[in-house]
Amino acid sequence: MYLKNIELTNFRNYKHIKVSFNKGINIIYGKNAQGKTNLLESIYLLGLTNSHRSILDNSLINNGNLFLKVKGNLKKDKIGNDLEVYIDERKKILRFDNSIISKVSDYISNMNIIIFTPDDLELIKGSPQIRRKFLNVELSQLYSNYYVLLNEYDKLLKIRNEYLKNVNKSYKLDNNYFDIITSYLVDKAIIIYKMRQKFVDKFNLFCQDIYKDITNYTGFRIIYKKSIDVDIFANNVKQIMLEKFKEKRDIEIKLTSTIYGPHRDDLEFYLNDINLKFYGSQGQQRLAVLALKLSEIEIFKKYKDSVPILLLDDIFSEIDKNKRANLLKYINKDIQTIITMTEVDIIDDKFLKKAKLFNIDDGKIKKIKEVI
Ligand SMILES: Nc1ncnc2c1ncn2[C@@H]1O[C@H](COP(=O)(O)OP(=O)(O)O)[C@@H](O)[C@H]1O
Ligand SMILES: [Mg+2]
Repeated sequence: MYLKNIELTNFRNYKHIKVSFNKGINIIYGKNAQGKTNLLESIYLLGLTNSHRSILDNSLINNGNLFLKVKGNLKKDKIGNDLEVYIDERKKILRFDNSIISKVSDYISNMNIIIFTPDDLELIKGSPQIRRKFLNVELSQLYSNYYVLLNEYDKLLKIRNEYLKNVNKSYKLDNNYFDIITSYLVDKAIIIYKMRQKFVDKFNLFCQDIYKDITNYTGFRIIYKKSIDVDIFANNVKQIMLEKFKEKRDIEIKLTSTIYGPHRDDLEFYLNDINLKFYGSQGQQRLAVLALKLSEIEIFKKYKDSVPILLLDDIFSEIDKNKRANLLKYINKDIQTIITMTEVDIIDDKFLKKAKLFNIDDGKIKKIKEVI
């Protein structure tokens, strides 16, 4: 799939612009604070209905205005669809071919996006919450029922934690009621666990080779860390989980929170037996994220039969020359890629020829050249 064009109204530092993209490589360059990241953010918003930077929707609206609109035409197998996200202070409206879509899960499976930004280093270095968000965003794009499931799980979790708080205050526990909530929660948890485990397994099919391709090092892998030690594919997994929950009931009441479940999951990244979070160099961490993102492309191709759109935000300056060349080989394939950078001279001419080139200056975009 590829994004044919995009039209922004009152988005960040853009009042109103239209951009037509090339179906292959697009390079956008410009000085700092001119709107490069904002443009990629608008594409991300168009596909996934929120920002890749975790911020409030309202800050996306151009200062002094009351609404924003991002529209784009997405091409998939020769068919074009219009996508639109409208946001004002009170609401967000999603449209697909001019019809309003009320379920986010129906909307976000249309346009698949993989974004890679310097902040992604946090995927390795940051808190588990960032890695769970990553799992959730990717799985929601792959399977529209995942998003629904996750929402149901979150609701149950909230109810359960609320109940634990009340019990903690009043010391009265309705065992039946509590068991029912726990049982529902565990049902959802098991499905999420399974989906996440299978997803991580898929990563491991690709990321080792990709990491080796870029760096020449072998032994890169990802480990899915559940907060509960069970074989999720065992027949009696529910029973085992319920027993584990029972053992921890008093502790849960004391802590007023649910201690097992997907909301406590984490991922670990290893280069052979080195845990990259604690012992990896910045370079190794950066390349691990890169391998992760490139693996995602392969997962989308293989399991969704769709080629996602790749957004690369200012990542080239931080990767050394050899590895940059290895990376360019990857993105040179038939995948729409939108790349931002401050200086184009770090990219070799052969690659530049294949790209449509734009310059951004203070919220204005100028086409510099088409693909040669
Ligand atoms: N809601 C907003 N309204 C107007 N300008 C904004 C808004 N949000 C961010 N900006 C401006 O956007 C610019 C940063 O754009 P950004 O895309 O991050 O730059 P870069 O080209 O360095 O990636 C800053 O000048 C900032 O003030
Ligand atoms: Mg930027």
